[in-house]
Amino acid sequence: MSRPAKVLLLGALFAAAALATACGTQRISVPTSDPALHEGAVLFNQRCSGCHTLSYAATHGSAQNVRTAQFNNGPNFDIRCERPVARVLYAIQNGGFSGVVMPQNVVVGQQAIDVAEFVARYSGTKAPKIPGVVQCSQTPVGTVAEALAPSTTTPTGPSSQSLIGRSRAKKKSKP
Ligand code: HEC
Repeated sequence: MSRPAKVLLLGALFAAAALATACGTQRISVPTSDPALHEGAVLFNQRCSGCHTLSYAATHGSAQNVRTAQFNNGPNFDIRCERPVARVLYAIQNGGFSGVVMPQNVVVGQQAIDVAEFVARYSGTKAPKIPGVVQCSQTPVGTVAEALAPSTTTPTGPSSQSLIGRSRAKKKSKP
């Protein structure tokens, strides 16, 4: 190979390498000034990136095209509003809403809280404006305290006993 050709080839290789790294340099864009939110984004990038897109955590795991979508591609959180934070915590614990595809408890404890707060805060930034539907930016992020408060709709403990008792009593009273 002639010298100019070699130089050209090397130049082309460097250009290609530079381009390739440029593509991979999308960074987490949550400021470190808020350590918990930033940590949430880092964890999201590490644990959730394979299946979900969220540009603030530099992830692209959601399906790009419905024709090439795979069974385990999760929703795109740039588009989908995931508020309040209780909704995200529930999905993390339950494995999505159906509990069928997404693994449960990919993160737990404080890490789950950090991830949930990050997702609630930074999701839905590209959500389409739909007339009659409250915009994501207008939807409250909610609090973790709220999310962890005992639910009034899930019957547990003695109250569930009395509920069961009541329904049995009703059945008995039927002719
Ligand atoms: C193996 C792929 C996979 C991984 C890993 C994964 N998810 Fe999911 N996720 C899904 C799928 C698929 C759905 C939708 C299915 C469903 O709701 O049952 C989903 C649903 C969700 C939902 C509910 C979205 C909605 O509006 O329906 C949330 C919130 C969520 N994931 C957050 C996370 C977070 C946070 C992580 C990381 C800790 C994570 N996911 C990791 C695949 C995954």
